[in-house]
Amino acid sequence: MFINKKLFTTALLGLLVTLSIIALILSLVRVEDVTLPPTVQYGMVFDAGSSHTSLFVYEWDSDKQNNTGVVSQTFSCDVQGPGITSYANDPSKAGDSLRECLEEALKVVPAAKQRDVSVYFGATAGMRLLREQNSSAADQVLAEVAKTIQEYPVAFCGAQIITGEEEGAYGWITINYLLESFTKYSPKAHMWVHPEADDSFGALDLGGASTQISFVPKGSFINWNETSRFTLYGYNYNIYTHSYTCYGQNEMWKRLAKELIVAFSAFYYNFKFLNLTEGQSLATVRETIEHFCARTWEDLSSNYPEENPERLPKYCANANYILTLLLDAYKFDEVSWNNIFFQIKVGSTSVGWTLGYMLNLTNMIPAEAPVWVKGHTPSLWAAAVAFITLALALGLVALLVLLWT
Ligand SMILES: *[C@@H]1O[C@H](CO)[C@@H](O)[C@H](O)[C@H]1NC(C)=O
Ligand SMILES: *[C@@H]1O[C@H](CO)[C@@H](O)[C@H](O)[C@H]1NC(C)=O
Ligand SMILES: *[C@@H]1O[C@H](CO)[C@@H](O)[C@H](O)[C@H]1NC(C)=O
Ligand SMILES: *[C@@H]1O[C@H](CO)[C@@H](O)[C@H](O)[C@H]1NC(C)=O
Repeated sequence: MFINKKLFTTALLGLLVTLSIIALILSLVRVEDVTLPPTVQYGMVFDAGSSHTSLFVYEWDSDKQNNTGVVSQTFSCDVQGPGITSYANDPSKAGDSLRECLEEALKVVPAAKQRDVSVYFGATAGMRLLREQNSSAADQVLAEVAKTIQEYPVAFCGAQIITGEEEGAYGWITINYLLESFTKYSPKAHMWVHPEADDSFGALDLGGASTQISFVPKGSFINWNETSRFTLYGYNYNIYTHSYTCYGQNEMWKRLAKELIVAFSAFYYNFKFLNLTEGQSLATVRETIEHFCARTWEDLSSNYPEENPERLPKYCANANYILTLLLDAYKFDEVSWNNIFFQIKVGSTSVGWTLGYMLNLTNMIPAEAPVWVKGHTPSLWAAAVAFITLALALGLVALLVLLWT
């Protein structure tokens, strides 16, 4: 009995050691260092224009490219009602008008990330005009907006009136980012790279109460005071912007008809209505507009029964206004006309200043360091766990045998 017990426990211990060695070897071979996929970061930007307010949600991977995020738009929401300037007499309503969109947007962001979401509120020409007329009214509207956003669990970055120059420069960034002037995904190299050609597009923006032109100036006649400097994806850009306040469409209508429209206005919408966004030549554009303007009211209203009868007669004047602005103010001609592209969206992303703002802001939002972990082949890992379990079980049996026999 005594010999049997000694023999038995020795065999058991031998087996135990063997199993442990196998488990150890299994857990050491074919182990590799791997990085976990980057986490997603989120940001929100309100665009408070003269006729309406929109909210955009952007996301980017926490591992940035040369310090700038590769940003994409995940969600957008149009705030119900008119622009925030119309709440000047009842500022608290300006804040309340944002709630619905803000709540919708927060549903897009995982709960654990909401506290880290940068939320920025930028107001453009409508508020610039209100501030000129009555700066305390403009301040009150912004204060109410800030108060409302701060009620939500997000990282609020401020509510401001941005200058026309900022609006133009951020719009330029948006356009050029979407047209891949800064960075481009190379499927061959599986990474983001700087495009070889160092070309960029100029940007023209017709808003409700202002219009902006932005481009990278060439040549030496540059007043550097009038340019804004940005670093994007490791490269520096000097952007020249000129902003013409009161040259937006609403202001034109106020001047022409002494009435306020809350019509949604942009180069794009007017030209889209006339089917002129497909790169038609200047001659075709002129002809189309002339032809449209010559039609009778009966003809128009029967041909466009869906169109708002208030807006229908304005397409003629708007289109002529845009043409005049492009040809006389911006000096486009037959040849350079062909380089104009009318766009409201590139892919599913809206063209405006907000994306450019977000892109520049990602430079300041700290990147999360990539997480390194030890990675194991699943089958080897399962085998190692099985051997460890077996060794533990045998160890317990050996212990019981030693203690109780
Ligand atoms: C400016 O706005 C405030 C708040 O809406 C109002 O009380 C004040 O009368 C306005 N001032 C002028 C000069 O219109
Ligand atoms: C980052 O900068 C390097 C040169 O400094 C460039 O080769 C690379 O393409 C840049 N990456 C991106 C995404 O632009
Ligand atoms: C640029 O601005 C500085 C100070 O703001 C001024 O001294 C300088 O004369 C300006 N330069 C030009 C070319 O306007
Ligand atoms: C762009 O972001 C940088 C921070 O990275 C900031 O210092 C700069 O003021 C921003 N540029 C503009 C024009 O807002």
